[in-house]
Amino acid sequence: MTDTVPALALEGVERSYREGESRLDVLRGVDLVLNPGELVALVAPSGAGKSTLLHIAALLEQADTGTVAIAGVDTTGLGDAARTELRRSSIGMIYQFHHLLPDFTALENVTLPMRLAGVGKREAEAAARALLDELGVEPRVSHRPGELSGGERQRVAIARAVANRPAVLLADEPTGNLDPATAEHVFAAFVRLARSTGLAALVATHNHDLAARMDRRVTLVNGHCEEM
Ligand SMILES: Nc1ncnc2c1ncn2[C@@H]1O[C@H](COP(=O)(O)OP(=O)(O)OP(=O)(O)O)[C@@H](O)[C@H]1O
Ligand SMILES: [Mg+2]
Repeated sequence: MTDTVPALALEGVERSYREGESRLDVLRGVDLVLNPGELVALVAPSGAGKSTLLHIAALLEQADTGTVAIAGVDTTGLGDAARTELRRSSIGMIYQFHHLLPDFTALENVTLPMRLAGVGKREAEAAARALLDELGVEPRVSHRPGELSGGERQRVAIARAVANRPAVLLADEPTGNLDPATAEHVFAAFVRLARSTGLAALVATHNHDLAARMDRRVTLVNGHCEEM
């Protein structure tokens, strides 16, 4: 028997928000495992805690209790520097709105995470061009985000998120603000890329058609994660 090391493992994750006297228990013990290569949709109503869960998995926020392990590395007790390092090397994040750097070209936005990881300029640029080509936006490499369409920006954001070959890709409604045809293109590109790199992806979406095409679907019910 071979033991697969999960790309992402959440165990007993709890998170509440305090607002004055009251407390909102958003996550009440989330258990979730993503194996390498798995594409998992996270489908739950607005306010259920999808973004909270993704931010905790991305090490952008801390759980109150519970553990988060990325590619077998337990992050409990890691300091800020180690969390940032692990996030840079092993996690890719895609938001509903692209979060690209406005003063940098598409190519520069994608090369930046690789440069931060110590990859040389030429190598990073070649890899970024190949990724953007795979996503169908190579002709737009020298444009800044303000000169790109919404769908093009999201594809650049996907390229940036996978540039460092992360173990886990976390996406928060990546096609949420795109028209159906563009959403379809972006989603198809996303799946192709995930399949070709073998990364695990957790994708929050309100789009049931797209969710149906992933390997598994999970939801959040009363702060717990359940298979659908
Ligand atoms: N920083 C915060 N402080 C207080 N409450 C918060 C904070 N962030 C989120 N919440 C609350 O936690 C709950 C879960 O929010 P979250 O953003 O995770 O939901 P979501 O499932 O992503 O919703 P949507 O589909 O609308 O994006 C909501 O009730 C929200 O108001
Ligand atoms: Mg959200």
